[in-house]
Amino acid sequence: MPGLYRQVIMEQVLFQHNRPGRAVTFTEYCGEGGFDALKKALKELSPNDVQQLVIDANLRGRGGAGFPTGKKWSFVPRDLPGPRWLICNCDEMEPGTYKDRVLLEANPWSLVEGIILACYAIGVSHAFIFIRRGYETAAGNVRRAIAEAKGAGLIGDNILGSGFSCDIDLHVSAGRYICGEETALMNALEGKRANPRSKPPFPAVKGLWGGPTVVNNVETLANIPYIIANGPAWFKGLAKIPEAAGTKLFCISGHVQNTVCMELPLGMPLGDIIDGPCGGMLPGKRFKACIPGGASTPFFTEEHRGVPMDFDTVAKAGSRLGTGGIIVFDEETCLVGATLNLVKFYARESCGWCTPCREGLPFVVDVLARLEAGKGETEDIDILREHVKYLNLAFCALAPGAMGPVEGLLRLFEEEIREHIIKRRCPFSRGNN
Ligand SMILES: Cc1cc2nc3c(=O)[nH]c(=O)nc-3n(C[C@H](O)[C@H](O)[C@H](O)COP(=O)(O)O)c2cc1C
Ligand code: SF4
Repeated sequence: MPGLYRQVIMEQVLFQHNRPGRAVTFTEYCGEGGFDALKKALKELSPNDVQQLVIDANLRGRGGAGFPTGKKWSFVPRDLPGPRWLICNCDEMEPGTYKDRVLLEANPWSLVEGIILACYAIGVSHAFIFIRRGYETAAGNVRRAIAEAKGAGLIGDNILGSGFSCDIDLHVSAGRYICGEETALMNALEGKRANPRSKPPFPAVKGLWGGPTVVNNVETLANIPYIIANGPAWFKGLAKIPEAAGTKLFCISGHVQNTVCMELPLGMPLGDIIDGPCGGMLPGKRFKACIPGGASTPFFTEEHRGVPMDFDTVAKAGSRLGTGGIIVFDEETCLVGATLNLVKFYARESCGWCTPCREGLPFVVDVLARLEAGKGETEDIDILREHVKYLNLAFCALAPGAMGPVEGLLRLFEEEIREHIIKRRCPFSRGNN
């Protein structure tokens, strides 16, 4: 697929400054148009103009839910006294998702510039980057970038003589998956136990230390400079289908030839991603299924290979684009076992705050483990179905997310579960066929 590769390379936005094996420097970034968007905004655009450009560009949050970014910013009341905050979410602990790490290891500058632009639009004078402890290289790059940008007058008091002042702090988190949930993250940042908070009030009105707060993902914020520099029409034109806008960082793992993080146009069909940039399946292997958007999303199968990878199209087809973390499984994979593996992660990461999740996820793990070992009963299928519904009642999105793959397993691979029950063993275990 050499043609596809050429096309992909032409459409790089977030990865356009990348250097092999090292991060792009401040001088290189500036030499390639870096910080021009900030200079333009501070000179020519009002905060409302910046927000409107982001709304018109139809940028949707890249942290998992795909919420429209400009709309989220517009919920922040402009007339409340006291400070308001912006938090960049770089907790990134969902299995199969590693795009924010790859982005920051290559280029911390677009994020720094995007944060200052977002703060200008929302009227924030202090932003935090919340990063997980394991991301040492990325954190080091961001720390150096903040210091250099401060030295160049791009962060701090009276930025570029505009009268606008803004600071950025890097917070290295102790880390848990639940710290990525935006309200748990705010508790963690305040030094409290990372339990989610009830909503409402929503963070845009009452968030960090009780002040209006916007939480955005790394990739979301890193897109802002390019939207301001090139305009909404250009941004929309990057996508493969009219209802989508921009590119997406897809990180691929599993049984493909190339397990890499790639920047691709939104709306590219799933099959083209797997067969093109991923180099197809491992030699001699056939595609069975994939998790299309991070570990909390329901499976896609062969019949979904034509689905354009965008938020609404993937949702219409029964899953979620989520974080863009695609995990590919070949025909020899036991999907009962794969689902068990995923739910074990969520059961371990439950913060324990509410009963359905604290008690329900370990129970689901037990049922799946029984089924995988060939010790399950037909009733277990209904028990799992009930728990998909039951765990939707949990306090935050961790538990429904945990049940995403279970729901997909029941809908698409019920026969495979039944085979385990009838044969009294896993049909995929070595020596069992
Ligand atoms: C359990 C859980 C973990 C999450 N982890 C992350 C994360 O690591 N990074 C992230 O950006 N969003 C994560 N989210 C989503 C955030 O709560 C929030 O929606 C997101 O940071 C908003 O950014 P966006 O609008 O730019 O997508 C998580 C949500 C849940 C429920
Ligand atoms: S759903 Fe799970 S992670 Fe979320 S609050 Fe309840 S126990 Fe905590």
